[in-house]
Amino acid sequence: MEKRKEIVMSGIRPTGFLHLGNYFGAVRNYVRMQEDFECYFMVADLHSLTTHPDTKELKANVHRVLAENIACGLDPDKVALYCQSHIYETAELYLYLNMLAYKGELEKTVTFKDKVRQHPDNVNAGLLTYPVLQTADIILHRALYVPVGKDQEQHLEMARNFANRFNHRYGDVFPEPQAFNYGSELVKVPSLDGVGKMSKSENQYATLYLSDDDELIRKKVMKAKTDSGPTVPGSPKPDYIENIFLLMNLVSSEEVIKKFEEDYNQCTIRYGDMKKQLAEDMVNFISPIREKAESIRNDERYLQEVMEKGAAKARISAKATMELVREAIGLKYF
Ligand code: TRP
Repeated sequence: MEKRKEIVMSGIRPTGFLHLGNYFGAVRNYVRMQEDFECYFMVADLHSLTTHPDTKELKANVHRVLAENIACGLDPDKVALYCQSHIYETAELYLYLNMLAYKGELEKTVTFKDKVRQHPDNVNAGLLTYPVLQTADIILHRALYVPVGKDQEQHLEMARNFANRFNHRYGDVFPEPQAFNYGSELVKVPSLDGVGKMSKSENQYATLYLSDDDELIRKKVMKAKTDSGPTVPGSPKPDYIENIFLLMNLVSSEEVIKKFEEDYNQCTIRYGDMKKQLAEDMVNFISPIREKAESIRNDERYLQEVMEKGAAKARISAKATMELVREAIGLKYF
Protein backbone atom coordinates (compact mmCIF):
# COMPACT_ATOMS: atom_id res chain seq x y z
CA MET A 1 0.00 0.00 0.00
CA GLU A 2 1.23 3.49 -0.77
CA LYS A 3 2.29 5.43 2.28
CA ARG A 4 0.10 8.43 3.03
CA LYS A 5 1.88 11.64 2.12
CA GLU A 6 2.88 14.04 4.87
CA ILE A 7 0.70 17.10 5.24
CA VAL A 8 1.81 20.61 4.34
CA MET A 9 -0.10 23.81 5.03
CA SER A 10 0.62 27.45 4.34
CA GLY A 11 -1.24 30.72 4.15
CA ILE A 12 -0.83 33.56 1.70
CA ARG A 13 -1.87 37.09 2.61
CA PRO A 14 -4.15 38.69 0.00
CA THR A 15 -2.46 42.06 0.28
CA GLY A 16 0.03 43.42 -2.21
CA PHE A 17 1.26 42.06 -5.50
CA LEU A 18 3.62 39.10 -5.83
CA HIS A 19 7.20 40.10 -6.54
CA LEU A 20 10.29 38.20 -7.56
CA GLY A 21 11.30 37.75 -3.91
CA ASN A 22 7.98 36.02 -3.15
CA TYR A 23 8.41 33.87 -6.22
CA PHE A 24 11.87 32.52 -5.41
CA GLY A 25 11.36 32.62 -1.64
CA ALA A 26 7.94 31.04 -1.29
CA VAL A 27 5.88 30.19 -4.36
CA ARG A 28 8.56 28.10 -6.03
CA ASN A 29 8.78 26.05 -2.84
CA TYR A 30 5.01 25.47 -2.90
CA VAL A 31 5.17 24.35 -6.49
CA ARG A 32 7.85 21.86 -5.67
CA MET A 33 6.05 20.60 -2.57
CA GLN A 34 2.85 19.87 -4.44
CA GLU A 35 4.50 16.83 -5.99
CA ASP A 36 5.79 15.33 -2.74
CA PHE A 37 3.18 16.17 -0.09
CA GLU A 38 -0.52 16.50 0.60
CA CYS A 39 -0.74 20.30 0.38
CA TYR A 40 -3.21 22.84 1.71
CA PHE A 41 -2.54 26.36 0.47
CA MET A 42 -4.88 29.01 1.69
CA VAL A 43 -5.59 32.67 1.01
CA ALA A 44 -5.66 34.27 4.46
CA ASP A 45 -8.61 36.58 3.87
CA LEU A 46 -9.82 36.48 7.50
CA HIS A 47 -6.39 37.51 8.76
CA SER A 48 -6.51 40.53 6.48
CA LEU A 49 -9.60 41.78 8.38
CA THR A 50 -7.43 42.37 11.45
CA THR A 51 -5.72 45.27 9.68
CA HIS A 52 -7.95 45.97 6.66
CA PRO A 53 -11.55 46.22 7.92
CA ASP A 54 -12.53 47.95 4.68
CA THR A 55 -13.32 45.09 2.29
CA LYS A 56 -13.94 47.05 -0.91
CA GLU A 57 -10.87 45.57 -2.57
CA LEU A 58 -10.86 42.19 -0.90
CA LYS A 59 -12.49 40.24 -3.73
CA ALA A 60 -10.13 41.65 -6.35
CA ASN A 61 -7.15 40.95 -4.09
CA VAL A 62 -8.23 37.36 -3.44
CA HIS A 63 -8.71 36.80 -7.16
CA ARG A 64 -5.33 38.29 -7.93
CA VAL A 65 -3.43 36.26 -5.38
CA LEU A 66 -5.07 33.05 -6.61
CA ALA A 67 -4.36 33.93 -10.25
CA GLU A 68 -0.74 34.82 -9.58
CA ASN A 69 -0.05 31.64 -7.64
CA ILE A 70 -1.66 29.46 -10.29
CA ALA A 71 0.29 31.31 -12.99
CA CYS A 72 3.49 30.49 -11.10
CA GLY A 73 2.70 26.80 -11.28
CA LEU A 74 0.45 25.91 -8.34
CA ASP A 75 -1.96 23.32 -9.65
CA PRO A 76 -5.47 23.41 -8.13
CA ASP A 77 -5.86 19.75 -9.11
CA LYS A 78 -2.82 18.71 -7.12
CA VAL A 79 -3.24 20.86 -4.01
CA ALA A 80 -6.16 22.18 -2.01
CA LEU A 81 -6.08 25.87 -2.95
CA TYR A 82 -8.80 27.61 -0.97
CA CYS A 83 -9.96 30.68 0.93
CA GLN A 84 -9.79 30.73 4.70
CA SER A 85 -13.28 32.21 5.07
CA HIS A 86 -14.84 29.29 3.18
CA ILE A 87 -13.83 26.80 5.86
CA TYR A 88 -16.07 27.57 8.85
CA GLU A 89 -14.37 24.91 10.94
CA THR A 90 -11.42 27.30 11.19
CA ALA A 91 -13.51 29.72 13.25
CA GLU A 92 -14.64 26.96 15.58
CA LEU A 93 -11.12 25.68 16.21
CA TYR A 94 -9.95 29.28 16.69
CA LEU A 95 -12.54 29.68 19.45
CA TYR A 96 -11.37 26.58 21.34
CA LEU A 97 -7.71 27.56 20.95
CA ASN A 98 -8.43 31.03 22.29
CA MET A 99 -9.22 29.44 25.65
CA LEU A 100 -5.71 28.00 25.68
CA ALA A 101 -3.89 31.18 24.69
CA TYR A 102 -2.81 33.65 27.35
CA LYS A 103 -3.10 37.39 27.03
CA GLY A 104 0.47 37.84 28.25
CA GLU A 105 2.09 35.67 25.59
CA LEU A 106 -0.06 37.19 22.84
CA GLU A 107 0.93 40.70 23.86
CA LYS A 108 4.59 39.76 23.61
CA THR A 109 4.34 38.71 19.93
CA VAL A 110 6.63 40.83 17.78
CA THR A 111 4.15 41.19 14.92
CA PHE A 112 1.47 42.33 17.40
CA LYS A 113 3.74 44.99 18.86
CA ASP A 114 4.62 46.18 15.34
CA LYS A 115 0.96 46.45 14.36
CA VAL A 116 0.12 48.34 17.54
CA ARG A 117 2.77 50.85 16.59
CA GLN A 118 1.50 51.10 13.00
CA HIS A 119 -2.22 51.30 13.81
CA PRO A 120 -2.55 52.61 17.38
CA ASP A 121 -6.23 53.43 16.79
CA ASN A 122 -7.23 49.88 15.79
CA VAL A 123 -5.77 47.52 18.35
CA ASN A 124 -8.56 44.97 18.11
CA ALA A 125 -8.80 41.56 19.77
CA GLY A 126 -8.41 39.86 16.38
CA LEU A 127 -5.01 41.44 16.01
CA LEU A 128 -4.02 40.18 19.44
CA THR A 129 -5.13 36.65 18.62
CA TYR A 130 -3.74 36.63 15.07
CA PRO A 131 -1.32 33.79 15.97
CA VAL A 132 -4.21 31.76 17.37
CA LEU A 133 -6.08 32.00 14.09
CA GLN A 134 -2.91 31.06 12.22
CA THR A 135 -2.54 28.04 14.50
CA ALA A 136 -6.11 27.02 13.71
CA ASP A 137 -5.33 27.22 9.96
CA ILE A 138 -2.38 24.90 10.36
CA ILE A 139 -3.56 22.30 12.84
CA LEU A 140 -7.03 22.10 11.30
CA HIS A 141 -5.36 19.81 8.76
CA ARG A 142 -3.03 18.29 11.35
CA ALA A 143 -0.19 19.58 9.19
CA LEU A 144 3.39 18.66 9.92
CA TYR A 145 5.22 21.09 7.66
CA VAL A 146 4.65 24.78 7.13
CA PRO A 147 6.70 26.42 4.35
CA VAL A 148 7.19 29.99 5.61
CA GLY A 149 9.88 32.62 5.78
CA LYS A 150 11.88 33.78 8.78
CA ASP A 151 9.32 36.44 9.68
CA GLN A 152 6.85 33.68 10.63
CA GLU A 153 9.10 31.75 12.99
CA GLN A 154 7.58 33.18 16.15
CA HIS A 155 4.05 32.45 14.96
CA LEU A 156 5.07 28.88 14.26
CA GLU A 157 6.61 28.51 17.66
CA MET A 158 3.34 29.72 19.17
CA ALA A 159 1.44 27.23 17.01
CA ARG A 160 3.55 24.45 18.51
CA ASN A 161 2.81 25.74 22.00
CA PHE A 162 -0.94 25.90 21.42
CA ALA A 163 -1.02 22.47 19.78
CA ASN A 164 0.95 20.94 22.65
CA ARG A 165 -1.22 22.64 25.22
CA PHE A 166 -4.30 21.21 23.57
CA ASN A 167 -2.75 17.75 23.47
CA HIS A 168 -1.78 17.89 27.14
CA ARG A 169 -5.15 19.06 28.31
CA TYR A 170 -7.44 17.00 26.08
CA GLY A 171 -5.38 14.19 24.57
CA ASP A 172 -3.18 13.77 21.54
CA VAL A 173 -4.86 15.14 18.44
CA PHE A 174 -2.23 17.31 16.77
CA PRO A 175 1.30 16.77 15.49
CA GLU A 176 3.79 19.57 16.16
CA PRO A 177 3.96 21.76 13.05
CA GLN A 178 7.41 22.76 11.92
CA ALA A 179 8.86 25.22 9.41
CA PHE A 180 9.96 23.65 6.17
CA ASN A 181 12.25 24.64 3.33
CA TYR A 182 14.06 22.70 0.66
CA GLY A 183 17.73 22.86 1.49
CA SER A 184 18.75 24.92 4.44
CA GLU A 185 19.10 28.24 2.75
CA LEU A 186 16.34 30.41 1.41
CA VAL A 187 17.15 31.99 -1.92
CA LYS A 188 17.88 35.63 -1.45
CA VAL A 189 16.58 37.94 -4.16
CA PRO A 190 18.50 41.20 -3.86
CA SER A 191 16.82 44.51 -4.49
CA LEU A 192 17.81 46.53 -7.57
CA ASP A 193 19.11 49.50 -5.59
CA GLY A 194 21.85 47.45 -3.99
CA VAL A 195 20.43 47.50 -0.46
CA GLY A 196 18.63 44.58 1.12
CA LYS A 197 16.27 42.25 -0.70
CA MET A 198 13.22 42.79 -2.85
CA SER A 199 10.20 43.49 -0.69
CA LYS A 200 6.88 45.19 -1.07
CA SER A 201 7.42 47.87 1.52
CA GLU A 202 10.80 49.15 0.37
CA ASN A 203 11.66 51.22 -2.70
CA GLN A 204 9.10 50.30 -5.39
CA TYR A 205 11.58 50.89 -8.19
CA ALA A 206 13.98 48.35 -6.70
CA THR A 207 11.45 45.52 -6.68
CA LEU A 208 10.26 43.60 -9.74
CA TYR A 209 6.63 42.56 -9.56
CA LEU A 210 5.22 39.65 -11.51
CA SER A 211 2.62 42.14 -12.78
CA ASP A 212 5.14 44.66 -14.15
CA ASP A 213 4.90 45.20 -17.91
CA ASP A 214 7.92 44.72 -20.16
CA GLU A 215 8.80 48.41 -20.37
CA LEU A 216 8.65 48.83 -16.60
CA ILE A 217 10.85 45.77 -16.07
CA ARG A 218 13.44 47.19 -18.50
CA LYS A 219 13.30 50.61 -16.86
CA LYS A 220 13.78 49.19 -13.38
CA VAL A 221 16.67 46.96 -14.38
CA MET A 222 18.44 49.72 -16.31
CA LYS A 223 18.27 51.97 -13.22
CA ALA A 224 20.13 49.42 -11.07
CA LYS A 225 23.22 50.88 -9.49
CA THR A 226 26.59 50.20 -11.18
CA ASP A 227 29.91 52.03 -11.51
CA SER A 228 32.62 52.46 -14.12
CA GLY A 229 33.82 48.87 -13.69
CA PRO A 230 36.83 47.14 -12.17
CA THR A 231 40.33 48.28 -13.12
CA VAL A 232 42.38 45.51 -11.51
CA PRO A 233 41.84 41.99 -12.93
CA GLY A 234 40.22 39.60 -10.45
CA SER A 235 39.14 42.30 -7.98
CA PRO A 236 36.24 41.52 -5.64
CA LYS A 237 32.75 42.71 -6.60
CA PRO A 238 31.07 45.53 -4.71
CA ASP A 239 27.72 44.47 -3.18
CA TYR A 240 25.55 46.19 -5.78
CA ILE A 241 27.46 44.46 -8.61
CA GLU A 242 27.30 41.10 -6.85
CA ASN A 243 23.55 41.63 -6.65
CA ILE A 244 23.24 42.04 -10.41
CA PHE A 245 25.08 38.76 -10.85
CA LEU A 246 22.79 37.13 -8.28
CA LEU A 247 19.75 38.29 -10.23
CA MET A 248 21.28 36.95 -13.44
CA ASN A 249 21.77 33.61 -11.72
CA LEU A 250 18.02 33.40 -11.21
CA VAL A 251 16.92 34.01 -14.79
CA SER A 252 19.82 33.96 -17.27
CA SER A 253 21.51 31.07 -19.06
CA GLU A 254 24.82 29.63 -17.91
CA GLU A 255 26.66 30.90 -20.98
CA VAL A 256 25.45 34.43 -20.41
CA ILE A 257 26.53 34.37 -16.77
CA LYS A 258 29.89 32.90 -17.68
CA LYS A 259 30.53 35.56 -20.29
CA PHE A 260 29.88 38.43 -17.87
CA GLU A 261 31.90 36.78 -15.12
CA GLU A 262 34.85 36.58 -17.53
CA ASP A 263 34.34 40.14 -18.70
CA TYR A 264 34.34 41.25 -15.09
CA ASN A 265 37.51 39.41 -14.23
CA GLN A 266 39.26 40.81 -17.30
CA CYS A 267 38.00 44.34 -16.61
CA THR A 268 36.24 44.46 -19.96
CA ILE A 269 32.73 44.35 -18.58
CA ARG A 270 30.18 46.87 -19.86
CA TYR A 271 27.46 47.20 -17.27
CA GLY A 272 25.09 48.82 -19.77
CA ASP A 273 25.22 45.65 -21.88
CA MET A 274 24.94 43.45 -18.82
CA LYS A 275 21.82 45.25 -17.63
CA LYS A 276 20.30 45.10 -21.12
CA GLN A 277 20.84 41.35 -21.12
CA LEU A 278 19.43 40.99 -17.60
CA ALA A 279 16.42 43.11 -18.54
CA GLU A 280 15.63 40.88 -21.54
CA ASP A 281 16.04 37.71 -19.47
CA MET A 282 13.76 39.16 -16.78
CA VAL A 283 11.17 40.09 -19.40
CA ASN A 284 11.31 36.56 -20.77
CA PHE A 285 10.89 35.16 -17.28
CA ILE A 286 8.16 37.46 -15.98
CA SER A 287 5.99 38.16 -19.03
CA PRO A 288 4.55 34.64 -19.47
CA ILE A 289 3.63 34.57 -15.77
CA ARG A 290 2.07 38.03 -15.99
CA GLU A 291 0.06 37.13 -19.06
CA LYS A 292 -1.15 33.87 -17.59
CA ALA A 293 -2.13 35.57 -14.31
CA GLU A 294 -4.03 38.22 -16.25
CA SER A 295 -6.02 35.74 -18.23
CA ILE A 296 -6.87 33.73 -15.11
CA ARG A 297 -7.88 36.89 -13.27
CA ASN A 298 -10.32 37.72 -16.05
CA ASP A 299 -11.94 34.29 -15.87
CA GLU A 300 -14.21 34.56 -12.84
CA ARG A 301 -15.94 31.26 -13.62
CA TYR A 302 -12.65 29.41 -13.51
CA LEU A 303 -11.65 31.14 -10.26
CA GLN A 304 -14.97 30.18 -8.70
CA GLU A 305 -14.38 26.56 -9.70
CA VAL A 306 -10.89 26.66 -8.19
CA MET A 307 -12.19 28.06 -4.90
CA GLU A 308 -15.05 25.55 -4.73
CA LYS A 309 -12.80 22.62 -5.51
CA GLY A 310 -10.20 23.78 -2.98
CA ALA A 311 -12.77 24.35 -0.24
CA ALA A 312 -14.31 20.93 -0.84
CA LYS A 313 -10.92 19.27 -0.33
CA ALA A 314 -10.05 21.39 2.71
CA ARG A 315 -13.45 20.72 4.28
CA ILE A 316 -12.94 16.96 4.23
CA SER A 317 -9.79 17.24 6.28
CA ALA A 318 -11.24 20.01 8.50
CA LYS A 319 -14.37 18.04 9.35
CA ALA A 320 -12.39 14.95 10.28
CA THR A 321 -10.13 16.95 12.60
CA MET A 322 -13.05 18.74 14.24
CA GLU A 323 -14.78 15.45 15.05
CA LEU A 324 -11.66 14.45 16.97
CA VAL A 325 -11.38 17.86 18.60
CA ARG A 326 -14.98 17.99 19.88
CA GLU A 327 -14.69 14.49 21.17
CA ALA A 328 -11.35 15.16 22.89
CA ILE A 329 -12.65 18.33 24.55
CA GLY A 330 -15.72 16.49 25.80
CA LEU A 331 -18.36 18.28 23.80
CA LYS A 332 -20.18 15.10 22.91
CA TYR A 333 -23.20 14.68 25.17
CA PHE A 334 -25.02 11.86 23.43
N1 TRP B 1 0.70 35.06 8.84
C1 TRP B 1 1.12 34.64 7.54
C2 TRP B 1 1.83 35.82 6.85
O1 TRP B 1 1.75 36.91 7.33
C3 TRP B 1 -0.04 34.18 6.68
C4 TRP B 1 -0.70 32.97 7.25
C5 TRP B 1 -2.00 32.88 7.71
C6 TRP B 1 -0.13 31.67 7.37
N2 TRP B 1 -2.26 31.63 8.10
C7 TRP B 1 -1.16 30.84 7.92
C8 TRP B 1 1.13 31.14 7.06
C9 TRP B 1 -0.91 29.50 8.17
C10 TRP B 1 1.38 29.80 7.34
C11 TRP B 1 0.35 28.98 7.89
O2 TRP B 1 2.44 35.64 5.82
